[in-house]
Amino acid sequence: MNISMNPNSELNQSIVNVPNLVQVPDPLIKQAYQFQEAMMMYTCAIRELKTKLEVLNDELSVRNSRNPIELVKSRVKKPISIVEKLQRRGLSISLESMTENLDDVAGIRVICSFLDDIYAVAEMLTRQDDVHIIAIKDYIRHPKANGYRSYHMIVEIPVFFSDQKKWMRVEVQIRTIAMDFWASLDHQLKYKKEMEANSEDISIELRECAEVIANTDERMLNIRKKIEAQEIALNK
Ligand code: GTP
Ligand code: MG
Repeated sequence: MNISMNPNSELNQSIVNVPNLVQVPDPLIKQAYQFQEAMMMYTCAIRELKTKLEVLNDELSVRNSRNPIELVKSRVKKPISIVEKLQRRGLSISLESMTENLDDVAGIRVICSFLDDIYAVAEMLTRQDDVHIIAIKDYIRHPKANGYRSYHMIVEIPVFFSDQKKWMRVEVQIRTIAMDFWASLDHQLKYKKEMEANSEDISIELRECAEVIANTDERMLNIRKKIEAQEIALNK
């Protein structure tokens, strides 16, 4: 595909916008274009998948009078994080290596209110015949040792560009609001771990909180089910 090779386009100006005296070797410029194009494709894949999620949410909110999805967040992995991850895994640092080895260049986080919404959303995505499921990790039924809970899917979806259809990989993390709250704090701990003398204490406390949260998620679901049962009984 060649859409970004027009030297006058705004896209190109941003790449070659370096002081006149600096001579950037041609192969490097070509690599920069290819990288930018790949990132654009991942961004499009996120957009496609977000639309699928919005459609499901709209349909279910009309049918059940409530939204299974509270919020959808997304991101394309930063170039520095891509290089760091490839390096950490002892893989070569190239565009091909990135597309072959990294499943999370495009990432979507789906935040649901209730536990059963997570599995409903995952199942609805799985049923769509243009969504290929590459891998699933259920950290809700099998939490990580630190207490982390979430439902992870690596999916591939087709994205239609001007001259080709490309199957793009996206990491989908589905979790409750409470799990997301916990994961955000845990993420902060990971970044600050080296500096914290008492990080072991914090880890233990976080693990305890993860249990409380898991328990609360289950209780909240049970309360909702009781309310729904009462509504059904009243309407009979
Ligand atoms: P990464 O190399 O981190 O991508 O892990 P992985 O390839 O083994 O995949 P996994 O499904 O375990 O984790 C993917 C992503 O889930 C991570 O990049 C995080 O966003 C999230 N995640 C996994 N474990 C944890 C955790 O213990 N705490 C938090 N806060 N997030 C986690
Ligand atoms: Mg990751």
